[in-house]
Amino acid sequence: MSKALKLGVAGLGTVGIDALKLIALHGERFASRTGCAVEIGGVSARNRRKNREIDISPYEWFDDPVALAESQDIDVFVELIGGEDGVAKASVEAALKAGKHVVTANKALLAHHGIELARLADAKGVALSFEAAVAGGIPAIKTIRESLLANNITRVYGILNGTCNYILTQMQKEGRAFDEVLQEAQDAGYAEADPTFDIGGYDTAHKLAILTTLAFGVETSIDTVYVEGIESISLADIEAADDLGYRIKLLGVALLTESGIEQRVHPTMVPKNTAIAEVDGVTNCVAFDGNFVGDILLIGPGAGGGPTASAVISDVLDIAKGRISPPFAWRTEDLKPYERARMRSHEGGYYIRLKVFDRTGAFAAIAGRMAEHGISLESIVQRRPAAALPGLDARGDDGAPLPVVMITHETTEAAIRAALKAIEDEGNVQERPRMIRIEKL
Ligand code: HSE
Repeated sequence: MSKALKLGVAGLGTVGIDALKLIALHGERFASRTGCAVEIGGVSARNRRKNREIDISPYEWFDDPVALAESQDIDVFVELIGGEDGVAKASVEAALKAGKHVVTANKALLAHHGIELARLADAKGVALSFEAAVAGGIPAIKTIRESLLANNITRVYGILNGTCNYILTQMQKEGRAFDEVLQEAQDAGYAEADPTFDIGGYDTAHKLAILTTLAFGVETSIDTVYVEGIESISLADIEAADDLGYRIKLLGVALLTESGIEQRVHPTMVPKNTAIAEVDGVTNCVAFDGNFVGDILLIGPGAGGGPTASAVISDVLDIAKGRISPPFAWRTEDLKPYERARMRSHEGGYYIRLKVFDRTGAFAAIAGRMAEHGISLESIVQRRPAAALPGLDARGDDGAPLPVVMITHETTEAAIRAALKAIEDEGNVQERPRMIRIEKL
């Protein structure tokens, strides 16, 4: 057997501790699977004396993660600190410059600086691996890098944020409002104290930007991802969607189009009879459309110590086997500039919910505005009080607003936005129309 592969683990939160536990538990198996033992060459975290689940005293301690990254005693620097800049970036750069392999779970670092770090790794002939950065335990990155490498991928999409999926699932299953479920998720520790990054869609956008580079061979472009979060999804939308045969999910979608690549994160209607509609709670999923393989859907845990440590150590074991792939699945020098397809050109079906004043001609005027913009309607639901969509304020008094829900045939974002503006300006609706995109699956 060749000499042991020595890891420097920086960041001893849940994932770091589970990674150490995994190596302690399965170390012998690793040696027989890779031909190389895996050992710990040093650890670093903010607080040495913190009470941890395991005894870290056998491991050499480094106050400074950069010193650990440069240590002669390690071959692989495992960065589990987090954050797009600061000490995480400094220590990863130091490790790569020192010719150490890097394994990281840091999606923000990769979404913002992935290409420059990949160039550093290439220059030194070392690995930069990040299976854990996207969808935790789901092997999304290896699937693109290895299993689907023969294909042209035309679309990659998924449920990439467990917090959002938990909230939407609870709203749908228990008929509870967004704020109430978010509060419960925070109390239970599922959602961060400041949940903006998750519910605003930014966490999903970071993961999507990484998948886009891997799938399409373009430079990462986090700043051009179109992002809408789930804050404005109401119980009325969830229940109307259910009534029409859909579920609402926060999807990240990267799609190859004739005018460039769409990268978008937004609440999305998916037909109830699809597998993705059944992905509930904190579970994540990642889907790929490949030109030869067809459609692939991977479902599993997107966060948590065990699943994320499993992904981290799978990258370590690739290095132990001597498998060094280009970080983003394409030679870094071959990555093309990202060409953005404008959101206005997006094509698809749309769900629209209006509160229409109950007066003669209102509905005809709305239908007229849609027709003027070339939008064909697949279905329209307007209900009187007895059969009103649950959760909607449908009174049916003269002049009082009635809920109207429309599903359009395929159209463009530009047409929908123009039609909705015309409808709003005309004054037959009580509030700004609500629109949710429908993903073709
Ligand atoms: N906050 C993320 C989620 C997990 O809710 O899925 C880490 O990426």
